[in-house]
Amino acid sequence: PLPNSIKELSDSAGLSSIPFLYASRSSEALLTDVVEHEVPIIDFSLLKKGTPDQRSQTVRDLGKACEEWGFFKVVNHGVPERLKDTMVDALGGFFDLTEEEKGEYTRKHVMDPIRCGTSFNLNVDKFRFWRDYLKVFVHPVFHSPAKPHGFREISQEYTTCMRVLAMDLLAGIWESLGLEESNLTTALDLHSCFQIFIGNYYPPCPQPELAMGLPPHSDHGLLTILLQNGVDGLQLKHKGNWVNVKPHPNSFLVNTGDHMEIISNGKYKSVVHRAVVNSKSTRISIANAIGPSLDAVVVPAMELVSDGGSSVAYHGMRYREFIEHQQANPLKDKSVLDRIR
Ligand code: SIN
Ligand code: FE2
Repeated sequence: PLPNSIKELSDSAGLSSIPFLYASRSSEALLTDVVEHEVPIIDFSLLKKGTPDQRSQTVRDLGKACEEWGFFKVVNHGVPERLKDTMVDALGGFFDLTEEEKGEYTRKHVMDPIRCGTSFNLNVDKFRFWRDYLKVFVHPVFHSPAKPHGFREISQEYTTCMRVLAMDLLAGIWESLGLEESNLTTALDLHSCFQIFIGNYYPPCPQPELAMGLPPHSDHGLLTILLQNGVDGLQLKHKGNWVNVKPHPNSFLVNTGDHMEIISNGKYKSVVHRAVVNSKSTRISIANAIGPSLDAVVVPAMELVSDGGSSVAYHGMRYREFIEHQQANPLKDKSVLDRIR
């Protein structure tokens, strides 16, 4: 029988090859070149505390990063190093719980507020992935697993910080699109924004070239803010190539999601990315995904639609339905976006 978690499998002594079900890499994935490239860097302190000129320049840089890459690194973000380290340690502590202790949160429905497991969706995925995860809904209602000790306090502090950072970045992004912040806050009901904490655990893999940590996908929300434990593994699709993103000390990696693509009427596209694994080190990453309110029906911003509406490029969908739809199907590229053309 297959183990309940990839951690359990990886911890079993003398594992030298991976079970067939984990060999998910298609020949297409193997043949695509992976290139090294730096993604744009945004100095957050200039957005918050810079001179008016520095702020306008940073807003332009943000817009350019969203348009050309859909990914950027945020430096001088003001989030204490201690908080990031403690959060990563607490998440490691969660994955170290016994399978029995974690069992309370396994085999849950996609809209259950606390859920952990391995692979992505055992009912629909053909292969298993080299990843264990913990997903927790943290806003508008905060949830937390009861163990390990201290997890609740630290994740509350950390996820609050991530939400504040996301709102500041969103304000800059709306400005770069020429949109009025207060209109967007109302249209997306951002005071009730839906925020998910996603902890990922990728142990060393004896045959990393055959396995995949997380298959290619786009994120469903507006922005995702990623913290990594210093081990690389995230790759994004840029101009037809997979680009390896090197972790950058004391930075967060941010990417735009499907709902940014919808609201910007396709100007800022969500970008497909994946997580690969390695044979040496455990990689831990923590994504905070920030989306509109679950009840918001998001449509392209009127100001970005020309010709009295004839250029509207996406159908709106209630965010809750969008998520359920994505999660009920195999995680694959940008499968849920409902393009008009
Ligand atoms: C990762 O970098 O571990 C995956 C991030 C994600 O797509 O959620
Ligand atoms: Fe993602």
